[in-house]
Amino acid sequence: MDIKKIHQAIAFLRTIRLLNLADFFLYLKDRISNFRINRRFLTDNKNCCFPPPHLAFDAYGTTSIPHYFETGIRNAQLIANFINEYILTGTVKILDWGCGPGRIIRHIGKFLHHKSFNLYGSDYNKASIHWCQNKLPNICFTLNNLIPPFEYQSNFFDCVYALSVFTHLSKNMHFAWIKELRRILKPNGILIITTHGLTSSQNRLLNHEREKFDSGKLVVRSKIKEGSKWYLAYQPRMFMQNTLLKDFEILFLGEAAYYEQDIWVAKKTKEPITAALIL
Ligand SMILES: C[S@@+](CC[C@H](N)C(=O)[O-])C[C@H]1O[C@@H](n2cnc3c(N)ncnc32)[C@H](O)[C@@H]1O
Repeated sequence: MDIKKIHQAIAFLRTIRLLNLADFFLYLKDRISNFRINRRFLTDNKNCCFPPPHLAFDAYGTTSIPHYFETGIRNAQLIANFINEYILTGTVKILDWGCGPGRIIRHIGKFLHHKSFNLYGSDYNKASIHWCQNKLPNICFTLNNLIPPFEYQSNFFDCVYALSVFTHLSKNMHFAWIKELRRILKPNGILIITTHGLTSSQNRLLNHEREKFDSGKLVVRSKIKEGSKWYLAYQPRMFMQNTLLKDFEILFLGEAAYYEQDIWVAKKTKEPITAALIL
């Protein structure tokens, strides 16, 4: 079946509100197909802890433990490279927002050049945060709500990253969270986020969604719990540059760096750029 047909089928299931049921069958199928691979991986890595399959499936759409482990290392390296490049001195405070079961934050310390750093993780999924708090020491995990604010004080973090989190939020939440992320970042702090940009939108959008996307508007597929993996948002670059990140200085844009998503690295300017222009 081609990818467009799959997305038409998903759209139908979404409309008749049966996507969660379909997801449950996908979960069972995935568990069976990964059973042997996971058992072997667990035997070979007895000293490591891995999240229960339902938590991994909730966040990544697969229960494969090698996938959790290997993509976690690769993405931690990607994020750490940006932090090493853009944040040069001092003790760095880093937040993984939407950390899920800690796939990336658990590895990031190995790749940082900084002598001293403090690591934080936050998610709105209670079970994921509970698992992280119990299993991943030396990282401070907290639960946040779907809607801001965080408990963190203003101007606290040198870097906040959120991989594939905006990709599961409504338009209102995009604006509410970007404001909140800006608040908790220090001046000149770095924000790293990924979005469903050019590559991922190419084959997946249906015709009416494509038109909206091409005119620079955010496309949101809802009718399911916001923040979950089937709640999907597609962000055109025009929307990112002119609207969402307008109060940041964009330092880097990479295509398909994280799966098929765009990756944005942006700096918190001291004043919102819009306010400075008006003055
Ligand atoms: C696709 S998963 C990505 C997980 C993680 N960033 C990674 O790449 O390994 C999306 C994550 O965002 C979380 N999430 C969605 N909405 C959120 C919100 N408003 N606040 C915090 N986390 C949220 C979900 O619970 C889930 O863990």
